[in-house]
Amino acid sequence: MEPILLPFAASFLHPILIWNTSSHETPIKMCSASTKVATVNATLTVDASSSSGSPIPDTFFGIFFDEINHAGAGELWAELVSNRGFEAGGPNMPSYIDPWEIIGNASYINVETDRTSLFDRNKIALRLEVLCNTSGVNICPTGGVGVYNPDQMVWEAWLQLKYRSASEVSNWTKVETILEAKATDHNARLQLTTTTKGVIWLDQVSAMPQDTYKGHGFRTDLYGMLANIQPRFIRFPGGCFVEGVWLRNAFRWNESVGPWEERPGHFGDVWMYWTDDGLGYFEFLQLAEDLGALPIWVFNNGISHREQVDTTAVLPFVQEALDRIEFARGDATLKWGSLRAAMGHPEPFDLKYVAVGNEDCGKKNYRGNYLKFFSAIRSAYPDIQIISNCDASSKPLDHLADLYDHHVYTNASNMFVGATVFDRASRSGPKAFVSEYAVIGSDAGTGSLRAALAEAGFLIGLERNSDVVHMVSYAPLFVNTNDRRWNPDAIVFNSYQLYGTPSYWVQLFFLESNGNNYIRIKVVNFDANTVNLHISFDGLDPNKVHLSGSTKTLLTSSSLTDENSFSQPKKVVPIQSLLQSVGREVNVVVPPYSFTSFDFLKNHLLSVN
Ligand code: AHR
Repeated sequence: MEPILLPFAASFLHPILIWNTSSHETPIKMCSASTKVATVNATLTVDASSSSGSPIPDTFFGIFFDEINHAGAGELWAELVSNRGFEAGGPNMPSYIDPWEIIGNASYINVETDRTSLFDRNKIALRLEVLCNTSGVNICPTGGVGVYNPDQMVWEAWLQLKYRSASEVSNWTKVETILEAKATDHNARLQLTTTTKGVIWLDQVSAMPQDTYKGHGFRTDLYGMLANIQPRFIRFPGGCFVEGVWLRNAFRWNESVGPWEERPGHFGDVWMYWTDDGLGYFEFLQLAEDLGALPIWVFNNGISHREQVDTTAVLPFVQEALDRIEFARGDATLKWGSLRAAMGHPEPFDLKYVAVGNEDCGKKNYRGNYLKFFSAIRSAYPDIQIISNCDASSKPLDHLADLYDHHVYTNASNMFVGATVFDRASRSGPKAFVSEYAVIGSDAGTGSLRAALAEAGFLIGLERNSDVVHMVSYAPLFVNTNDRRWNPDAIVFNSYQLYGTPSYWVQLFFLESNGNNYIRIKVVNFDANTVNLHISFDGLDPNKVHLSGSTKTLLTSSSLTDENSFSQPKKVVPIQSLLQSVGREVNVVVPPYSFTSFDFLKNHLLSVN
């Protein structure tokens, strides 16, 4: 069934956005209005004829995974050990092993890093010189001495872990074992200890839960929150994360593929934390495939927050991008395709979209660099859609692109009226990818109803303009409360709890909204008045279609500042109920400060001849 475009949105003196199925300007009558809190009557006429409306793109609603707030490192990516290769100090800065901690004082153990690893891309190993022993003059303390990794590990009674380490001085050995937790502890840690005098080197230490999604490494509860949204695409991995403050700290794809123990990891200097890059390019492509979402790969274009590679010197970056596309899509007989196959995915991934940089349009070298990427990718992979950082919502692009990026972070009223921004956009040329939007600041707190309602109004405007808006995703997606860097976010979690903010729940209204058998009318009431809404349907052929089994889904709460929390994760969530007496004329009530989806089920009558 063709998805139906819901093409009418109106905002009123009392700001209410109404969205219906008519393809014509639909008369809305405000029968009474008052500036005081009151009840307002309104009438909506819906042209529900089969010729009305136009399709919403299949790709319309998706997600943007940004490595910010410790979203992926040690979280969606379920690895429990942080800084697993002891590289966080960089290859030339020994003995910076944070967040590893030493067990035992200096008379029992001496710990330092050196460059004895057998892996070329991550030379650092940890040298533990144990000075105490099981007997003699310097007896080790009970429990032994060594190191522990305190990254808020959760050990559930049912959890099994694979522990891997490499040991022995000159002959590195990979050791794997399954550790089975006998009890649940939300603040557990992994300790590696001994009571035997001698020298031990550790190179790479990993503790991976065995119950990740399909064994692909994704924490199942967080993955489930993404799967609920049914995203049609996933943009990844950032954001500023892709840029870096300095280029040396930008996420480089070639260092995030291959065996986990050979990845160097890197320090993300925008959000100021180390990532082991276990969640690398391959894993993002796998995540997209698992979700049934199209991957949208954002890559560095030779520009960071403070550096710009000159266009004459950007070719190595271009080659890296081509190599990575080959990694995703190339035949398994090719150099990079064979690496993908060796990692367990001989079939190509469905990579059809790439974004050249993030928020770099205003920078001096952007256009020059962009055009180098554009022509190389277009000529090697003509079907790949290329996304420019330059926003063309108010003026035409001065360069070729398939899509242009549009980001908006603002207060609630600006977001709400932003529903009309794309009414004025050019109907020709590249389409918009609204890849980051959110209400921020005091209107949003850490995820308020007010923010969510304003965003719902904005999204209604995007749906109505989906002839020129091709894709949309909220930002940021995740926040780990142990490392909050940005507010608000769609999904809030710690090592064992999680909830969706009201903005998360708003997205669910839209991800299911591509037509089907429903006439779906979405209404945001961004005001203190109750609205009595009379809806009448025109154009339904009474011999073919009748309305029945209809529902109302309502998102509201007692205060605009209400938020969800670990203790009240469902304070502000959508509530669905059946709509009574549905016919060609329907009366519904739209509560103050609410978002409602009225879903009228179209039953197609069988014609008997
Ligand atoms: O969403 C948070 C950040 O905001 C993104 O990383 C960046 O693209 C934007 O500036």
